[in-house]
Amino acid sequence: MRTYLVTGGAGFIGSNYIHYMFKKYDNEIRIINVDVLTYAGNLENLKDIENRENYSFVRADICDAEAIAKVFEENDIDRVVHFAAESHVDRSIKNPEVFVKTNVLGTLVMLNCAKSAWELPDGTFKEGKKFLHVSTDEVYGSLENEDEFFYETTPYAPHSPYSASKASSDMLVRAYMDTYHFPANITNCSNNYGPYQFPEKLIPLIINNALQGKDLPVYGDGKNVRDWLYVADHAKAIDMVQEQGRLFETYNIGGHNEKQNIEIINIIIETLQEMLPEDDERRKLVTTKLIKYVADRKGHDKRYAIAPDKIKAEIGWYPETMFKDGIKLTIKWFFEHEDWMKHVTSGDYQKYYSEMYK
Ligand code: NAD
Ligand code: DAU
Repeated sequence: MRTYLVTGGAGFIGSNYIHYMFKKYDNEIRIINVDVLTYAGNLENLKDIENRENYSFVRADICDAEAIAKVFEENDIDRVVHFAAESHVDRSIKNPEVFVKTNVLGTLVMLNCAKSAWELPDGTFKEGKKFLHVSTDEVYGSLENEDEFFYETTPYAPHSPYSASKASSDMLVRAYMDTYHFPANITNCSNNYGPYQFPEKLIPLIINNALQGKDLPVYGDGKNVRDWLYVADHAKAIDMVQEQGRLFETYNIGGHNEKQNIEIINIIIETLQEMLPEDDERRKLVTTKLIKYVADRKGHDKRYAIAPDKIKAEIGWYPETMFKDGIKLTIKWFFEHEDWMKHVTSGDYQKYYSEMYK
């Protein structure tokens, strides 16, 4: 039975990945989820699997080398899937320090602990051990022309403190692969959406605000482009890269689904109107009149677009969920999880929201 150490498993993508893995492998694998539970981490995301015998949760900070080394000492870890990070660009603009600490130093701790646990006296590594570092397309910077795409060979040019910290963490993983022949892969993925996404990010924020008849804030002219991928497709890609990818390689993961932010907002409004029952009071609230253009994000990247050609050619992965279907699945999930939304938007979220959008 393979043992996985997943970091950041109570966040958005990490929890979706854990759900995906148990659905796929059931009792053939064991997962240890290490998460310190920042504002973005929420054990409610894993409620339905928390009692599985092949799952355990360790509350620890990835910057705490002792705590992480202990997890490796007490368990024979076969795979590390490293999601834990500070992930929100707007927060990084206001408070960069924690991004450097968690994303850079935390990744270094993860690399060191895995290396110590897996390295043999002759400097090679135990058979079959693998580390996957989950990164972002934002490390490549911003595209201006429609015919340009991010490839694995595109030079790094991060702009925000968030993307600079992720780029630095990628460089550390590359350095461990190059220097020690440390068995790892890096994946650089585009914007994810789907269940359990925290409503500081565009799609869940717009869904939540629209259902309450609140303003829908659009940064700048709303024409910035992101390449949206349904989160379950990302989870599948990560598993396929780890099992079928070539070690030491980077794989770009993307949705082939570029849209301007304003298009996304209009699609959400239309889909909500379509999906809300006839007698639901909220139907009256959800209208394009809620759209409000607000000050632009500082240093706002214009366009991201991944060319997922390598992962398709080498591994056979491609984005399966069309946006029109993925957005319905996402909205349906939010309809069915109103309590989840209430819990995550109480307390600190209100403070964050009023400071961010004042
Ligand atoms: P998220 O913010 O929803 O979750 C991050 C998780 O990491 C939370 O559970 C949080 O508690 C945990 N965490 C934060 N600091 C920690 C620390 N010091 N120690 C232990 N745990 C800590 O993030 P997400 O959107 O799920 O992103 C997960 C990963 O995927 C990140 O590395 C991010 O850079 C990358 N990524 C995200 C997207 C996206 O669209 N969301 C796209 C590409 C790549
Ligand atoms: O590209 C991958 C990245 O996607 C990940 O690495 C990040 O972790 C993830 O947060 C995401 O970053 P973005 O900055 O692209 O996502 P966000 O949802 O914050 O914003 C998407 C776009 O929508 C962006 O152009 C900014 C805009 N936006 C966002 C918010 C929250 C608005 O116009 N209004 C808003 O209120």
